[in-house]
Formats: sequence, structure tokens, C-alpha cells
Amino acid sequence: MTDQDAPTAAAVDRYLTDMLVNEDEALRLARESSAETTAPGIEITPAQGAFLALIAQIAGARRVLEFGTLAGYSTIWIARAVGPEGHVVTCELSEQNAAVARRNLERAGVSERVDILVGPALDSARSLAQEGTEPFDLVFVDADKPNNPGYLEQAVQLGRPGTVLIVDNVVRGGAIVDASSEDPNVIGVRALMDALHDDPRIDATALQTVGLKGWDGFSLARIR
Ligand code: DHB
Ligand code: MG
Repeated sequence: MTDQDAPTAAAVDRYLTDMLVNEDEALRLARESSAETTAPGIEITPAQGAFLALIAQIAGARRVLEFGTLAGYSTIWIARAVGPEGHVVTCELSEQNAAVARRNLERAGVSERVDILVGPALDSARSLAQEGTEPFDLVFVDADKPNNPGYLEQAVQLGRPGTVLIVDNVVRGGAIVDASSEDPNVIGVRALMDALHDDPRIDATALQTVGLKGWDGFSLARIR
């Protein structure tokens, strides 16, 4: 094998996905329908969806909160993982995206176990807290990055000891090590890291990922 046809991280991701990930028609259509949203193509990959579902099952999660619905691709993975007795609340700013997601959740057969809260996610989460909603077992943060510190705080408020937190996109092609970055997404992720660093309520780590979506990563954390 010459350097020119050396395997790429994307090719490996495709291989692993082909071998291990069962993406049915409803999931595939949901993933492809991200093209109809305000942020085409930023949904998680199939392997990441399967990973999220496994984490939810390993945690025994019944109630999951998601920040950032987009087309509902990750929502379907999570909703299937929590089972028919489970419940997913997913927050989405855009009514356009929520409409795409509703259709996808319906087709995937999970709409009865999912509530989409349309509007600024910080407001939606605040309402949940005011209503005294039951604690969530897992929180997946995958929305606008500048609000990451706010979402983290709300995840802690809406969780309980043992609640699992996962935050997507914490590496951004390596850009997060640039302390002088003016990219609001990078600033948001760095602010999240500052918050996790100082927070005695949370145990956290973060892992870099490569694959179909290039170089990025996620943080995995747990409320003490
Ligand atoms: C962006 C957001 C995401 O959630 C993602 O997975 C990739 C990119 C972005 O806003 O750039
Ligand atoms: Mg993301």
C-alpha cells in the first residue's frame, strides 16, 4: 500500500459503521433530512448515534434531555435506547428544524416518547426546572456552542447524582487550544472547559474523535 491509498479515518469509520451499526431506513432518512434544516450536515454520525444509544443503555437511562434537536437523528437513537417506557425531552430553537424532526420521529415510531420544546433551549430548560420536572438520567448537549456553559449549569440543575452528561464538538479540528481564538464556538467550548475544570459537582473527561466528520470530540461527565 502506498501513502496515496493509505486508509483514511473516514474509510475506517465507514468500515466500522458497516460492520457494527444498524441504521434502519427511518434513521437514514432522518440523517439525510438534515439537508432540510438550518444547519445541514452537522448531525452526529451513525457510529456516534450507536455510541450514544449504548451509553444511554449502560446508564439505564429512562429520562433524557437533549439540547439541539436539528432533524432528530440523535433523538431517534436515544429514544429507541430508552425504550417504550422512556422519555426524551429535546430542545430546538428553530420551528423549521422541529417540523423536520417531528416527521422523522413519527417515521421512526418514537414520537410518543419524545417532546420537542421549540424556542431558546435555555428558556425551555428553565421552564422544565420551574415545573419541577423529574430529574434526567442523561443529558446530551449538542446545540449552539456559545451557550455551552449555560447548558451545563442547567444539566446539573435538572440532573441528580449519577446523571451522565455528554457534550458534542469540544475539539473543533483542534481549534480549542487557541486561547486567543475569536470564534464564538471555540470561546463557548473553552468556557465549558473552564466550568468543568472548576466544578466540584462533576467528574469529567473528553475524548478526541476522527471519522466521517473529521477531527472533533466529546466530553463525557457525571454528576457526583
Ligand atoms: C457544529 C455544530 C455541531 O453540533 C456539530 O456536530 C458540528 C459543527 C457547528 O456549529 O459548527
Ligand atoms: Mg454536534
